[in-house]
Amino acid sequence: MKRLAVLISGRGSNLDALLSAIQRHGWPIAVVAVISNRPNAPGLEIARAKGIATEVLDHTQFQNRKAFDAALAQKLETQSPDLVVLAGFMRLLTAEFCARFRNRLVNIHPSLLPAFKGLETHQQALDAGVRVHGCTVHLVTAELDHGPILAQAIVPVHPDDTAEVLAARVLKMEHEIYPTAIAAWLSGQLMIQDDRIINRGEGAFPTEFRSCRLHPDLA
Ligand code: GRF
Repeated sequence: MKRLAVLISGRGSNLDALLSAIQRHGWPIAVVAVISNRPNAPGLEIARAKGIATEVLDHTQFQNRKAFDAALAQKLETQSPDLVVLAGFMRLLTAEFCARFRNRLVNIHPSLLPAFKGLETHQQALDAGVRVHGCTVHLVTAELDHGPILAQAIVPVHPDDTAEVLAARVLKMEHEIYPTAIAAWLSGQLMIQDDRIINRGEGAFPTEFRSCRLHPDLA
């Protein structure tokens, strides 16, 4: 059984999609902890409702980023996670933390990286006038929204889109690609070579993994 720890800050829809996918597919993956840096994150309720252990590590109670990350790392290590999943965890992580969990830390970012790093990615996409947008699952390095890419999903941008409408279109695809990318990584189907992800085509358990997903309107 592979052990996952999930870090959240808010809504938790990716956490919900992950828990549902693990159950639906019967993957040998256990979410051993959900940790939020915000005490009122709605995602905590999602985890509790599914019987997952939750913890709060309130960043406002720490003197600085380094102290918070050290406490977080310590808490995580007690769970011996095979992978730490960032699911809407809205904090920058120190280089020390990223190094400690090197190749054991994964994130989903709501853009087609390397385009539109940082916040408000959907508005960035609209402002740039791009015709396609999407989301990216990647291993986390010390550099913001950077690191070897496991999977991407592409959605169309329509002329009358608002940031909210576009965000909803992307989020639906996030919920599809994040769980399968995580399962593929944990099953050994994916490996890292020269800072890039190689798909070996088979792993210890089936994942229906596709490294590039198209929104149905583009297929
Ligand atoms: C998602 O859009 C994710 O890509 C970004 O933060 C958002 C989290 O949403 N990193 P949720 O908390 O999973 O609903």
